[in-house]
Amino acid sequence: MTDHTTAERPPLKVVLLGAGTVGQEVARLLVENGGDLAARAGAPLELVGVAVRDTAKVRPGIDPSLITDDALALVTRGDVDIVIEVMGGIEPARTLMLAAMSAGASVVTANKALLAEDGATLYMAAEANGVDLYYEASVAGAIPLLRPLRESLVGDNVRRVLGIVNGTTNFILTKMDEQGADYADVLAEAQALGFAEADPTADVEGFDSAAKAAILAGLAFHTRVTINDVHREGMTGVTAADIAAARDMGFVIKLLAVAELTDDEQGVVVRVHPAMVPRSHPLAAVREAFNAVFVEADSAGQVMFYGRGAGGAPTASAVLGDIVAVGRNRVSGRRGPGESTYADLEPRSIASAYTRYYVNLQVADRPGVLATIAQVFADNGVSIQVVRQDGSGDHASLLVRTHLATDEALQRTIDLLREAPSVRSVVGVMRVEGEAGP
Ligand code: NAP
Ligand code: HSE
Repeated sequence: MTDHTTAERPPLKVVLLGAGTVGQEVARLLVENGGDLAARAGAPLELVGVAVRDTAKVRPGIDPSLITDDALALVTRGDVDIVIEVMGGIEPARTLMLAAMSAGASVVTANKALLAEDGATLYMAAEANGVDLYYEASVAGAIPLLRPLRESLVGDNVRRVLGIVNGTTNFILTKMDEQGADYADVLAEAQALGFAEADPTADVEGFDSAAKAAILAGLAFHTRVTINDVHREGMTGVTAADIAAARDMGFVIKLLAVAELTDDEQGVVVRVHPAMVPRSHPLAAVREAFNAVFVEADSAGQVMFYGRGAGGAPTASAVLGDIVAVGRNRVSGRRGPGESTYADLEPRSIASAYTRYYVNLQVADRPGVLATIAQVFADNGVSIQVVRQDGSGDHASLLVRTHLATDEALQRTIDLLREAPSVRSVVGVMRVEGEAGP
């Protein structure tokens, strides 16, 4: 459907940097839904160039005359309104986006790695050149999450953001939990489905979640947070035995991203790590490549965002939403919100965060052993919530779940348990999230 007034407006010229999993879908939707998108943006959107690495590759649905490997020439041609960056990586993406903004184009990007490493430079360039920088697709795929944080929840005080923000690892953990699938096989499947990053280490080692957590924390707490401020542990250490033990106790293992205000409200702790979540918690029901994020704010209470977190089409949906928003801004001569960092909170280490641990110890089942172990927890101010012993004799395992304590106290407890004569080995340690109470 095309509105007549819209069709008569000069088209907004759009350039696409990258035509892979996401870019291919963006290009297809720009053409297929052109009429509706024009009516919604207020002017036709004309794709005038697509930059790729390999110009010989067949790209169904993209006019071959638009394809080039000279991305810089494309973004600096001088008449471009919107540059869509979906090539990924730090360079040349950063140079190209900065060149595009200098040339007067607004930028829509899905590049969380760059935003989390050097978002400030992009924001400053957008401000200096009076253009927009939109990046809804950079976190949680199709889920509208950044705009709600930047706009709908901007009148509230956010306390905590907690969720699953990586589709690839959630896909792998789901298949390992439900089907006992092999890690390498499921990773290959996630890659084939277009969920994984170009280098999947970014997914499985938690870099992708950490980048997203930094972006979320920056928006939620009006503070500049980079990936270097995020405590990061990936999921490659999670074993089939960990998953089975969690299942036995009524838990599921998820790779979580958490950003929270510190007790004194002067700092923010941002962390990414695997955690055991009770099966009754809504995050436990988030399967495959779906993502879900809880935002806890003073007046709103808890708000949950849920949807497809990865893949070409879901991500393209978020990119297209940004293109229309930027298009509207160009047509009306306005700009969207810029960077908000006025709160300037201090990024703090995980040591000060309150977490709870599950610990699996191999111990000798002798009188006094339990008391000795309980004493190590007590000496460090860590209160025990549940203890379960399996087996007996020289091969008993003791499963301990703690109440909340600072991560520093919990880490110290584990270090001391590793040295305790009554402990044969510390078989497993994992944080627990999503339990109510102290
Ligand atoms: P992809 O499938 O690897 O596609 C990358 C595209 O960029 C390819 O077309 C590639 O060209 C092109 N490209 C890469 N480097 C280039 C360079 N130096 N010059 C010109 N073109 C270059 O990646 P993707 O999965 O679409 O992801 C793209 C971006 O979206 C990344 O920032 C990613 O983190 C983000 N993202 C992805 C998803 C997802 O589910 N896949 C979701 C959210 C966000 P060739 O085709 O010639 O190789
Ligand atoms: N590799 C990312 C993921 C893509 O699996 O979540 C979406 O950002």
